[in-house]
Amino acid sequence: MKAAFEKAYGRAPEAEASAPGRVNLIGDHTDYAEGFCLPMPLSRRTHVAMARAARFRATSLDNGETRDFDPGTPPRRDWTDYVAGPLSELSKRGIEVPPVEVLIRSDVPQGAGVSSSAALEIAVIRASLALTGAALDDIEIARAGQAAENLYCGLQCGILDQMASSVGREGHALLLDCRTNEARLAAVPESFRFAVIHCGVERRLVDGAYNARRAAVEEAARQLGLRALRDASPEMLSSLPEGELRARARHVVSENARVLAAFDALEAADADAFGALMTESHYSLAEDYEVSTEALDGLVETALVEGARGARLTGAGFGGCVVALVAPDEAEDWWRRVGARHPKAWAVSL
Ligand code: GLA
Repeated sequence: MKAAFEKAYGRAPEAEASAPGRVNLIGDHTDYAEGFCLPMPLSRRTHVAMARAARFRATSLDNGETRDFDPGTPPRRDWTDYVAGPLSELSKRGIEVPPVEVLIRSDVPQGAGVSSSAALEIAVIRASLALTGAALDDIEIARAGQAAENLYCGLQCGILDQMASSVGREGHALLLDCRTNEARLAAVPESFRFAVIHCGVERRLVDGAYNARRAAVEEAARQLGLRALRDASPEMLSSLPEGELRARARHVVSENARVLAAFDALEAADADAFGALMTESHYSLAEDYEVSTEALDGLVETALVEGARGARLTGAGFGGCVVALVAPDEAEDWWRRVGARHPKAWAVSL
């Protein structure tokens, strides 16, 4: 990054940081219902370098663009919002980042459901803290990243992605309680390999559909007289009107139970039990939550037919990636067979 920064801006950076993308192993669309999820950081990361300057300017080595921005003004609705938003959130927390030139490089794919935006937000916050000498704990860093995404970037996301990027540890699954932000780490057993495969179709612009799912979940909780769907039992759901709202709630309630069962299966190194929960999760996301696509469903089917213990879409859905549980010594052959049947698919992480 040092050499690239010098090339872009003609001097050395003053601060550098990075943050990882994540794969969510199970527990999607539960975070904003104050529920549970189980992400794991990827080895793919976003790197940020910065130095004080006369004005705010960002360069992305990934799209080759350089743009000026201003964290004190409303969002511009382009990629610089993922830099300006975190700086504006830091300012609300009393940490004033002076005008800086920023360089970004990432190998976290965008629109793939593996948290490229959280990786950028967390890396910007970490670099800003390094530059200013200010301190925030990892959970506060995640909160600031989420607030930036909510308020600046317009996605009413939960805290899953930012917590995974800020608090997660490579090679470990992170059981997140999104009500308390309590996090428990568990090492991924040696007999487990999580393959992350992109279906070849980028996630469409889905902020509207995502925000609508969140609104339905909040409406279901309201009708049940609960603070959040986290507190609903399966029996309670029959008092919701039959149809879409009940189906959305059924996904959240059943998914929370699956996450807790999956964490136990992980700690017991029970790949069959873990895999079965992943596959159930996929069908719940596809049928009750309606966030899957033909390409994701097809890839999950092939992953299973070719021997994965379990497979599911990961992240928000509507395109992007599938995560599959495979045996480590079978992973390469498994992927060769799956890839042959899905020429557009590619391995994000094997
Ligand atoms: C996106 C959001 C997260 C979470 C997932 C679905 O990644 O940013 O907060 O809701 O979708 O689990």
